[in-house]
Amino acid sequence: MTAGHTPHEGRAHPRDVRLCFLGFGNVARALCTLLAAQAHVLGSRHGLRVVITAAGTRHGSLLAPEGLAPAEVLATIGDGPPPQAARPAGELLAASAADVLVELTEMGDLSGLATGTRRRGGGPAPVPAATGHILDAFRLGMDVVTANKAPIAWSWPQISAAAAAAGRRIRFESTVMDGLPVFSLLEFALPDCALLGVEAVFNGTTNFIIDALGSGRTLDDALGEMQAAGLAEADPANDLDGWDAASKAAALANVAMGADITPLDVERVSLRDVAAERIAEARGRGRRVRLVTSIRRDPAPAPVGGPVRAGMRAEELDIDHPLAAVGGDSLGALLHTDLMADVLVCERRAYVPQTAYGVYADLLHLCRTS
Ligand SMILES: NC(=O)c1ccc[n+]([C@@H]2O[C@H](COP(=O)([O-])OP(=O)(O)OC[C@H]3O[C@@H](n4cnc5c(N)ncnc54)[C@H](OP(=O)(O)O)[C@@H]3O)[C@@H](O)[C@H]2O)c1
Repeated sequence: MTAGHTPHEGRAHPRDVRLCFLGFGNVARALCTLLAAQAHVLGSRHGLRVVITAAGTRHGSLLAPEGLAPAEVLATIGDGPPPQAARPAGELLAASAADVLVELTEMGDLSGLATGTRRRGGGPAPVPAATGHILDAFRLGMDVVTANKAPIAWSWPQISAAAAAAGRRIRFESTVMDGLPVFSLLEFALPDCALLGVEAVFNGTTNFIIDALGSGRTLDDALGEMQAAGLAEADPANDLDGWDAASKAAALANVAMGADITPLDVERVSLRDVAAERIAEARGRGRRVRLVTSIRRDPAPAPVGGPVRAGMRAEELDIDHPLAAVGGDSLGALLHTDLMADVLVCERRAYVPQTAYGVYADLLHLCRTS
């Protein structure tokens, strides 16, 4: 590691980085707040001035070709939708002339997509709206950062091929465990390490609800608290019925283990089917119920290995299991590797600013390496 931080030298003016936001909800606002707070550091340490040329939602848009500072965008948009009429995402992207698309739309009703598309005759995999946004950005010569797991879980082969063909890059650290480095850890800190398997508590909302149920609260009450904190998915079924965790498993398996699975291939558990009595009773015996998502490669002759399988289970863990300590609003994963044995990564207090930090770190990586 280089010692300390080298102040930006050799450039009279910082380089402008122009962003187009698609989706302007909790994470986008937290990212703008972070970018505003870091403006001085971005300029003095990295020689960057980040400006926003467009922001779009389904209910409004903001097009500012001259580029607005993140604090100005926050002040302009306030708590409501962006002030100009909504524009189709592709149109806004093209008009933004941005360097980077920041894709922060919601992941959509994956259960609806799945039942609607796959069960009627095994048609092609569903394509999330965000996949279209990302492919459009590549066609327009933009790189992409996203916290939206749907395109990585459902469309990774298409997205990675399109990025390579267009010579563009995409980063998505916050798709799996907010800003907790997993993809970056594997890519930069564990060179040549093969990921053999994963056991993880991937969904903070259900983890919080499990601990709340264990102490006598109701599911609706605990879910309401997560929704108020901006942590629950827009559609609660994505959290409660396992679609969020299944999407994270598919994203990690596809990117880091070369799998070719979708969330439909991940065996899911619904928290609605886990009795509060079971959670409380386990707690009474000093054990902890956790929704554990496992990813593993079936044994097969090297170097190819067998197929990758993923599934969730409501497991009762001994108190000294590393994931038993991942309680409440925390997330964690035990990464089984070949060269570094087992690596535990854990994020305590996983809130929206940590998701925004993951997007920030991805954005900085793109800027520092271009
Ligand atoms: N919140 C977290 O802690 C967290 C953690 C990890 C990952 N993520 C992921 O980060 C993304 C953003 O999360 P969030 O909490 O910020 O969501 P959010 O508060 O629900 O905001 C979603 C935004 O996306 C917009 N949107 C939805 N569909 C759109 C479309 N087709 N075109 C344009 N805009 C669209 C919505 O606009 P309208 O209101 O006009 O519909 C809204 O502005 C999601 O994919 C989520 O899964 C979130």
